[in-house]
Amino acid sequence: MALNVIMLGPPGAGKGTQAERFAHGRGIPKISTGDILRKAVEDGTEIGGLVKAIMDRGELVNDEVMTGIVRDRLEKADARSGFVLDGFPRTVAQAVALDDMILDRGSLLVIDIVVPETELVRRLAGRMICADCGANAGEAAESGSLAGTKAHPGRCRRCGGALVQRADDSNGVVRERLKVYHCQTEPLVEYYRRRPTFRSVNGAQPPDTVATDLETAVDAAHRVAMAASGGVPR
Ligand code: AP5
Repeated sequence: MALNVIMLGPPGAGKGTQAERFAHGRGIPKISTGDILRKAVEDGTEIGGLVKAIMDRGELVNDEVMTGIVRDRLEKADARSGFVLDGFPRTVAQAVALDDMILDRGSLLVIDIVVPETELVRRLAGRMICADCGANAGEAAESGSLAGTKAHPGRCRRCGGALVQRADDSNGVVRERLKVYHCQTEPLVEYYRRRPTFRSVNGAQPPDTVATDLETAVDAAHRVAMAASGGVPR
């Protein structure tokens, strides 16, 4: 049965960091809607032009655009045996659309990463990303794919580019992103909580500990999904 994982959690919870590690370890794609949008902005595509100002304000891009992007991405061959979605769904409308997209592809395993707000603000204020490839300096350092790579202070471990603050990590925009999370995304926890494949993970621990807890949570949810389907791969 396919491993269809979504990571819920507020800005700075570690969704991207953990999604990268988990996807790499399991050989399935990490699909980050934030990364897809930032790339569209950087490449100057039509969608990039539409979403830049919205992202800079810390607001959400509209559901129709987002579900279209994810539907197209999930159609690609590499996502047939599973995926880790980071940053999608973010509204109940997106969650309903996702349920519809994967109707014949097995259960959704839902991981909610929980971190206190003071820690989120601290992490986002200190986050540095690569100006060239967009890699998160912390994520790149933690990622198994980069283990053993030589670190140069102030430079990206992946490509050597300069490290900068992410455009939407300034103080005021972080406050707006947290507000948007509480109003529009947190209701998703209630949307999913009663499913047997829902798990919460304590994200306020060292990244390695979070990764271990997350592996355990996904595997437990996957066993439940397998049992519910009679163990028949779909
Ligand atoms: P997106 O890129 O998804 O941003 P986000 O949800 O705000 O999440 P972040 O990337 O800030 O945090 P994260 O949880 O991934 O944490 P990370 O691992 O990076 O979205 C950006 C924008 O795009 C949105 O505001 C919206 O405009 C638009 N958008 C995207 N998807 C959309 C959708 N579906 N619908 C509508 N609009 C959408 O870690 C954060 C920092 O903490 C890093 O420095 C990291 O190194 C560090 N860290 C991670 N784990 C730990 C740990 N355990 N201990 C200490 N530090 C840690």
